[in-house]
Amino acid sequence: MSSIKRPIFKTALPGPRAKAIVKRDQCSLSPSYTRDYPAVIDRGQGVWLTDVDGNVMLDFCAGIAVNSTGHSHPRVVEAIKRQAEKFIHYSGTDFYYEPEVALAERLNSISPTGKDNRVFFCNSGAEAVEGALKLARYHTGRPQFISFIGAFHGRTMGAVSCTGSKPTQKKGFFPTMPGVTHVPYPNCYRCVFNQTYPGCSLECVKYIEDTVLKTFLPPEEVAGLIIEPIQGEGGYVVPPVAAMQAIRKLCDKHGILLIADEIQSGMGRTGKWFAVEHCKVKPDIITLAKGIASGMPMGAIIASSAVMNWKPGSHGNTFSGNPVCCAAGIATFDLIQGGLMKNATAVGAYMTAEFKKMQKKYDIIGDVRGQGLMIGVEIVESRKSKTKSHDKMEAVIQLAFTKGLLMLGCGTNTLRICPPLVITKEEAKVGMEIMEQCIKKVAGK
Ligand SMILES: Cc1ncc(COP(=O)(O)O)c(C=O)c1O
Repeated sequence: MSSIKRPIFKTALPGPRAKAIVKRDQCSLSPSYTRDYPAVIDRGQGVWLTDVDGNVMLDFCAGIAVNSTGHSHPRVVEAIKRQAEKFIHYSGTDFYYEPEVALAERLNSISPTGKDNRVFFCNSGAEAVEGALKLARYHTGRPQFISFIGAFHGRTMGAVSCTGSKPTQKKGFFPTMPGVTHVPYPNCYRCVFNQTYPGCSLECVKYIEDTVLKTFLPPEEVAGLIIEPIQGEGGYVVPPVAAMQAIRKLCDKHGILLIADEIQSGMGRTGKWFAVEHCKVKPDIITLAKGIASGMPMGAIIASSAVMNWKPGSHGNTFSGNPVCCAAGIATFDLIQGGLMKNATAVGAYMTAEFKKMQKKYDIIGDVRGQGLMIGVEIVESRKSKTKSHDKMEAVIQLAFTKGLLMLGCGTNTLRICPPLVITKEEAKVGMEIMEQCIKKVAGK
């Protein structure tokens, strides 16, 4: 789609226009935003972004796993334009229009939650999580939730109560929603129970069953267990398949709804529609946002009609299923189905293999993990010590920016690689070369 082949520099980064906008931003926007480096975007095409000074950069971040179809994909732009010319809003909570139904039908057809599914549309990831928590309470009549250490589910009061990845996300906001118990995430690489996988005896799931549910949290009080099938903000952590399956069994045994937060991992990013599919686990409720509409603000909850049994008026919102967002969502869905998911698998495998080659050369690369185009590369002091190095990870990210490659970190020390799903192998190769230059320099080689 794109004729651009490499980053192009018109100025040193940041250029004068970028600097001026950052200065204005600092005087006008909330200081709570977390900007890692001064990338000031003017326009985008595919996996390439041009900043306000005319510098062209390669995108390994996709606006945090959002722009799945790349920047301003012509089919998405066309769908948005066509719908905007017809009408822009008419409150999907109170009225009917076809794009909302058409997108819901598509999502229902792929959802592993059941055969007869229903969708609730909203505006963001946090709002999807908020709605999923309400639905779980409504459906079960139970008040409590289980969430995981390292989880990120958003920042509204219910969602932030389930979040457990960084103290700053909660500091100053207590009391949050009562009734959330955090337990260790199934993670064989840094297992708190000192287990390794294979050979793992699923101590993390036994801990929920034998300690949590038997000593302080009566299972009949638990409405839902919310889990990211690959932890995002927590460090792109992939759980063992057996653990996910054991969690499903545990939920079945106690009548607890399994809520899969697929906001970051869903919509084809991992090479399947939903990351839970890699574990052959069927959740009861799925939350979506990010990649659902190529950057238009939209979230969704999917559940079977038996679970989504709330009454009219029990939940709704003004902008639910905004028709322009739905039009973008339909185009996005069709593009993902039409080849981007396959591309995520193929290019993701290539990039992961390249990172594993680099791992052999540079001792500061720890674990390399992920699925499809959701890849985490851990940066450590040395592989032997396994000491996490936040500073070295930051140094790689900052250096990459100056070389025209955009990415972010996650967890304490993991490079978060989540490019648009349209990225070609050739484009990925350009990015991998820059990555290697940066890692080499930070490793002191
Ligand atoms: C897994 C997960 N859940 C929920 C959220 C919250 O989404 P939003 O920022 O749209 O509220 C995020 C955002 O990063 C996420 O990664």
